[in-house]
Amino acid sequence: MDIAASTVQRTSSPPTGRTATDGRLAASAGASLAVEGVDLRFGGIHALRGVSFTAAPSRITAVIGPNGAGKTSVFNTISGFYRPTAGRVVLDGQDITAVPVHQRASRGLARTFQNIALFHGLSVLENIKLGGHHTMRAGLLQSLAHTRAARDEELALRDEVERRVIDFLQIDHLRHRPVEALSYGLQKRVELARALAMRPRVLLLDEPVAGMNREETEDMARFILDVQEEWGVTVLLVEHDMGMVMDISSHVVVLNFGEVIASGTPSQVRSHPGVIQAYLGADEEMS
Ligand SMILES: Nc1ncnc2c1ncn2[C@@H]1O[C@H](COP(=O)(O)OP(=O)(O)O)[C@@H](O)[C@H]1O
Ligand SMILES: [Mg+2]
Repeated sequence: MDIAASTVQRTSSPPTGRTATDGRLAASAGASLAVEGVDLRFGGIHALRGVSFTAAPSRITAVIGPNGAGKTSVFNTISGFYRPTAGRVVLDGQDITAVPVHQRASRGLARTFQNIALFHGLSVLENIKLGGHHTMRAGLLQSLAHTRAARDEELALRDEVERRVIDFLQIDHLRHRPVEALSYGLQKRVELARALAMRPRVLLLDEPVAGMNREETEDMARFILDVQEEWGVTVLLVEHDMGMVMDISSHVVVLNFGEVIASGTPSQVRSHPGVIQAYLGADEEMS
């Protein structure tokens, strides 16, 4: 078993025009996210069995495992699409297990989807603006209760965040293009932009490089690293591309048959006998 050597290098300094940190971009950077003893059943299928792990603040944590291991189930439980039969999801010390999906965004959770979920017929900019919708609603409610100045400030902040996200992801020249005209890799980048426009404290990425070619994968890996390093956002990543996971994650959680079989640094996990067995048993290559 051999895992591809690192191809994604951290740059020593941010490109010109970016500051090292911009507190305005993240609502409150770096929340911790904990999954505690989560059980999930679908009829007779026991998809998750007492799954526990923590995504540390401002770090990249990856959840990996063979097909059917329960990765998507974990993801959907965190984002609220599935309600666990036991256990809790805790965001910065607050139990959010019972919080409805649409309210999790205002708690600071943003996600991308394994299959691109952009609105065709709308431009890149329009799609990104939809990401800020939840803060817009909060802002409007606030402005009813408070002042017009508060609303204007919220709108100006949203414009600023969108502008910086577009600049950050280097899609400025594409802002008025319809999303369906973009390549697959760029569409995935727009989806990331939309999630970032929500100013998340925790960013959930569902197979962000699935279906990408090598160059697109390296670009995306670079952007995910930048999001974590420069904005301090907590990233939880479900990914199949083992090389990419090992390159950018600080912590890796391995699932197999709905259970956590290993967790640790990439090098600890890579040499764990149970992990090697799980991947060999599933006839998948760790490459
Ligand atoms: N909505 C669902 N209904 C029934 N079974 C499901 C559902 N989602 C997942 N499962 C089952 O749960 C197990 C874990 O699936 P999943 O979380 O999709 O794994 P992974 O993402 O690691 O491939 C599988 O046995 C799968 O068939
Ligand atoms: Mg899956």
